[in-house]
Amino acid sequence: VHWTQALSFLILLASGLLLSVRLFGRTFGHDELLRQIHLTTAFFFVFLPAIVALAGDFRSVRVDIQESETWTQADIEWLRRPSLSPRPNQSPPGRFNLGQKLNVIFTVYCTLAFAVTGVIIWQSRSMPFSLVAQAQAIHSWLAYIALAVFLGHFYLSAIHPSTRPSLSGMFSGNIDTAWAQRHHPAWIPGRPTPSLTVLAIVRSSALAILGILIALLISRLGLAGLGANTTDPVVALIYRLSALPGTLHLHVITSGSHVLDLAALIWMGLLTIGFIAVFKGQSLLPAPLVSAPVDPTHSPSDPTVTW
Ligand code: HEM
Repeated sequence: VHWTQALSFLILLASGLLLSVRLFGRTFGHDELLRQIHLTTAFFFVFLPAIVALAGDFRSVRVDIQESETWTQADIEWLRRPSLSPRPNQSPPGRFNLGQKLNVIFTVYCTLAFAVTGVIIWQSRSMPFSLVAQAQAIHSWLAYIALAVFLGHFYLSAIHPSTRPSLSGMFSGNIDTAWAQRHHPAWIPGRPTPSLTVLAIVRSSALAILGILIALLISRLGLAGLGANTTDPVVALIYRLSALPGTLHLHVITSGSHVLDLAALIWMGLLTIGFIAVFKGQSLLPAPLVSAPVDPTHSPSDPTVTW
């Protein structure tokens, strides 16, 4: 999940900054190509992390989301005195400290804001001028704020000696137990990563394909609703990839008009039913849960512990 998000973010950041200075276009004459790379990557940035989460080990991602949304006594103390590693007289942080939780919350809202303002700029033809101008300003400012946050995040995860050991998690999925106990003493690992079976691979692949098709259809319906110009290469690509098999030539003419693409809606409904059926099918498999070690610092009724 984090790799799909990080890689697409970096491509968007680089292409966006090059677009804003118009240097690439002036030097190589390819601003249009850069714009197409930016918009195609935006599709992956918005949809891919969710698709990977749903198609992969969703329970583990859900635990992380729940933990980043739950504030504990340790977080209140962190707010008063932020620190990279827990102080001896402070309540022990769990899987994330408050700085990490705030980073997650910022990332989610930032993604939404990028997507909304980006679509307004992209479909500026059907939007009021003042709205487009504001969206452009917000989009550019957000890019600089996100760059600053990214640099801080990169420094802490790859350079700072006290937090750098966590980086191995991005490559192997594991981190040093002794480091975790020092930095995140109240972290209770729920279960080991489930082993990879042929059934799990088939299921994940099916969910990934269905998820991408549904995301393409959501984009297609949204663009049709906005009356997007189908001569735009990125709009045309989305239409081509999301067309019902054998109906490629039946592009909806949406120039300026708002047309309900009924066939796409029905196609999306059927794929969504298929997606839910495969997703729910997982619960028929035995849950690979193991009992977690009991942490003596928490009572069973402690609402801050997520199992
Ligand atoms: C999430 C979905 C996103 C969409 C749909 C989107 C869409 C767009 C569009 C349509 C443009 C105008 C391109 C042109 O000049 O024709 C643009 C520009 C830009 N985007 Fe994005 N974008 C997204 C995410 C991002 C992200 C994550 C970043 C940076 C981290 C970013 C940074 C920029 C920058 C710096 C510009 C240039 C603004 C200017 O002209 O000064 N965008 N984007």
